[in-house]
Amino acid sequence: MKRSLLLLAALSSLSVAAYGFDAAATWGEQCAKCHGKEGVGDTKMGKKLSIKDYTDAKVQASFTDEEAFKALKEGTKDKNGKVRMKAVEGMSDADITAMVKYFRTLKK
Ligand code: HEC
Repeated sequence: MKRSLLLLAALSSLSVAAYGFDAAATWGEQCAKCHGKEGVGDTKMGKKLSIKDYTDAKVQASFTDEEAFKALKEGTKDKNGKVRMKAVEGMSDADITAMVKYFRTLKK
């Protein structure tokens, strides 16, 4: 009895780790409207905000994972304090780390 409960607990935590957060789906739902599905930034919002082409290796090399993490966690502002990218909502630090990892895969 005890052992099967333990197994159940182990299995359910495994499934949370594997399926609890889907970075690719989140990208499509929350990020692509600005960055574009591929990360090129050629959307209406992307053009308005002059978002860089994140498929470009040089652009990807211009910031660290830590900076990307911070940009997502806290959002980014222009020099006048106007929000450019909003801070993410309802994501754990692990989720944000997964998003940064996904973001890196946009590089061509
Ligand atoms: C409202 C439009 C918008 C949305 C939605 C958006 N972004 Fe951004 N993102 C930007 C802009 C604009 C920049 C450029 C940063 C700046 O110039 O302030 C940026 C930059 C970034 C960067 C680079 C940060 C750095 O350090 O240079 C990452 C990583 C990023 N976005 C990931 C995401 C992810 C992941 C999502 C979805 C959860 C997302 N963005 C949703 C507008 C957006």
